[in-house]
Parts: sequence; structure tokens; C-alpha cells
Amino acid sequence: VSRNASGARAAVFGASGGIGRALAGQLAEAGAARVHAGARQPAPPGHPALAPFAFDLEDEPSIARAAQAIGEHGPLDLVIVATGMLHGEGLRPERSWRELDAAALARFFAVNTIGPALVAKHTLPLLRRDGRAVFAALSARIGSIGDNNLGGWHGYRASKAALNQLDRNFAIELKRINPQGIAVALHPGTVDTPLSGPFQRGLPEGQLVPPEVSAANLLGVIAKLEPADSGGLFAWDGSRIPY
Ligand SMILES: NC(=O)c1ccc[n+]([C@@H]2O[C@H](COP(=O)([O-])OP(=O)(O)OC[C@H]3O[C@@H](n4cnc5c(N)ncnc54)[C@H](OP(=O)(O)O)[C@@H]3O)[C@@H](O)[C@H]2O)c1
Repeated sequence: VSRNASGARAAVFGASGGIGRALAGQLAEAGAARVHAGARQPAPPGHPALAPFAFDLEDEPSIARAAQAIGEHGPLDLVIVATGMLHGEGLRPERSWRELDAAALARFFAVNTIGPALVAKHTLPLLRRDGRAVFAALSARIGSIGDNNLGGWHGYRASKAALNQLDRNFAIELKRINPQGIAVALHPGTVDTPLSGPFQRGLPEGQLVPPEVSAANLLGVIAKLEPADSGGLFAWDGSRIPY
């Protein structure tokens, strides 16, 4: 399978999220042969190509079990990690170093960095080795160190920067087993989901997009990726963001 979803086998981790659900649905609609759609509480599939599975980012055996089951259906053309966290119970982005809290930082890293890294550990070996294959982790522009002129949101920013670095490492390692293997980090834009909900006030007109638009943009970017792009951080419009 080359660049479009038709006939592809894909896995989306975080298919219960705003962007992840739209990604899985659009891959299925585009004719993917099978879209493994993972969530902590998987929903009944809305399309025959969708194959729900359960996993928790903070439970590695659940990721290993999911990968084992996915692998039984054949090698994957595409893995997307669409999970992430910006706020939660007793957890909000820090505005100052005064708000730094060890437990909160550990949560940000557990969900935004370590979980996706463990998904990579168990799914990179499932990518096909005889042709183009893509691993894409949803990151964020604000995880870019070079692009950081605003500060704040320490835990989220740092956990995404660490994810970007890991992704770069995966790209290097993947190339050794498949020169057509591509690993990237993607910025989905500012998207109307529960993750961005509390922070949508004061956004410039037109910046906030529905998850379906973001997912279509991201699938367009993924379709155009070349092996030379592997290891990069790309925005929803295909532009490269500095690490
Ligand atoms: N929305 C934006 O404006 C924006 C901007 C930049 C980057 N991003 C990135 O885009 C990605 C998707 O975000 P979104 O906006 O679609 O957010 P969302 O709607 O809040 O979805 C987050 C997803 O992460 C999953 N998740 C969280 N903790 C998990 C855990 N411990 N185990 C398994 N799954 C877990 C959630 O699963 P449950 O349903 O089980 O909670 C859900 O599927 C994230 O990486 C985010 O950082 C979003």
C-alpha cells in the first residue's frame, strides 16, 4: 500500500479522542482494509473496517497485549498515536515555575511521553518492512524548543519536547530495518476537543478547527511524507516545525 488509505492496515491509539476518533473514521471511510482503533474504553465500531481494542498508556502489558493481537492480522502500513493530556483532575498547565509540582510533572510525562514511547516499542516492530510504512505521534507545536517564545505550560511543553526527541530516535532506528520507514511527530493545529476546551477563549478568529478538519489535514500530510522527512516535526499544513 502506498500513499492513500485504500487497502491499508492502520492502528490508531487514542481513538476515543476528538482527533483520534476522526482519524480512525476517515481512514475507514477512505477504504482502509482494517483500522485497529484503541481506547481505554473502546466504543462499538461505526464502520466494518474499524476493529476496536482496549489499552491504557499507563499499563504496558495492556499495550503489549494489544500489539500482539494487532500483529496477528498482518503488518501495519500506519500507526498513529493520537493520545495526549493538557489538563485533568487537579491538573492544569503551569503559568509559572512557582506552580511546578512533582506529581503533576510526572503525570504529564507518563501520558504524553512515556505512554507513546511504549506504544512505539510495541508497534514499530509491526510496521511492514517491504515498503512505505509510517509511525506518527501527535505532538504539539509548543513542544518545539526552537519555536518557544512564550513560555509557560511547563509540563505539557517539556513532555511534548521529550516525545519529539524520542520520535527522532525512532526514525533513526527504523531506517536501519526499513529505508522506507518513516517516523514523525505531528502538530494537529488548534482543534476543538476536550483537551483544548478550557483554553479556547481569545483565540484569533478561524484558528480553532473541528477535529474532522484536523484529521483530514493530518492524513493529507501523512500521505505526502517521504523517507527524507522521517525524524521531523510537521504541522497540519505540511510545514516543518523546528525541534
Ligand atoms: N486539541 C488541540 O488543540 C491540540 C493542539 C496541539 C496538539 N494536540 C495533540 O493532539 C493529540 C490529540 O488530542 P485531542 O485534542 O484529540 O484530545 P482529546 O480529545 O482530549 O483526546 C485525548 C485522547 O488521549 C487518550 N488518553 C489520555 N490518557 C490516556 C491513557 N492513560 N491511556 C490511554 N489513552 C489515554 C484519551 O482517551 P480517553 O478517552 O480514555 O480519556 C483520548 O483518546 C494529543 O497528543 C494533543 O496533545 C491537540
